[in-house]
Amino acid sequence: MALRTILTAPDPRLKKKAAAVAAVDAEVRQLMDDMLETMYDAPGIGLAAPQIGELKRVIVLDIEREDVKTGPLFMANPEIVEASDEDATYEEGCLSVPEHYSDVVRPARVTVRYLDRDGETKELACEGLLATCVQHEIDHLDGILFIDHISSLKRNMILRKLLKARKEAARDEAEGKPSTRLKMSAKESADV
Ligand code: NI
Repeated sequence: MALRTILTAPDPRLKKKAAAVAAVDAEVRQLMDDMLETMYDAPGIGLAAPQIGELKRVIVLDIEREDVKTGPLFMANPEIVEASDEDATYEEGCLSVPEHYSDVVRPARVTVRYLDRDGETKELACEGLLATCVQHEIDHLDGILFIDHISSLKRNMILRKLLKARKEAARDEAEGKPSTRLKMSAKESADV
């Protein structure tokens, strides 16, 4: 396994649509394992392949909250096959939008169909945080970030702040100063 670099907005690679994998082969399993290690290290509870620059429809999740404990979930070519009419609002964060959080409204319950790490077709009924997280990660596969669900005013403000933080980090590095500006905040449970 290997730690990979997580891209941050406004990186253009985060806005691209990812391609389906033909099969869950050794290469895809390696990608899944690298993604899980990178996600735990961040730390976060979900990661999509485009976030590490791989335009493949692969996501990993591990929800450890309240009484919902799924253990690690590996999903290739995930698709929502059923969604509730009822909505739920969660405050979302994202490893690619560090240190920013915003309420996002999504269907409260979804059923996701996917290929697991063994290439078996599975269906999983999700609710609560897991439902939010699965939808957030599948969005990444279509080049959509959680900030695309909020007002353009707030989105542009966040993107401006991210660009400023990146420039300051680059300047610190050029001056040989250790930079912590792009380090994740402690609010890790919401970062997907
Ligand atoms: Ni995310």
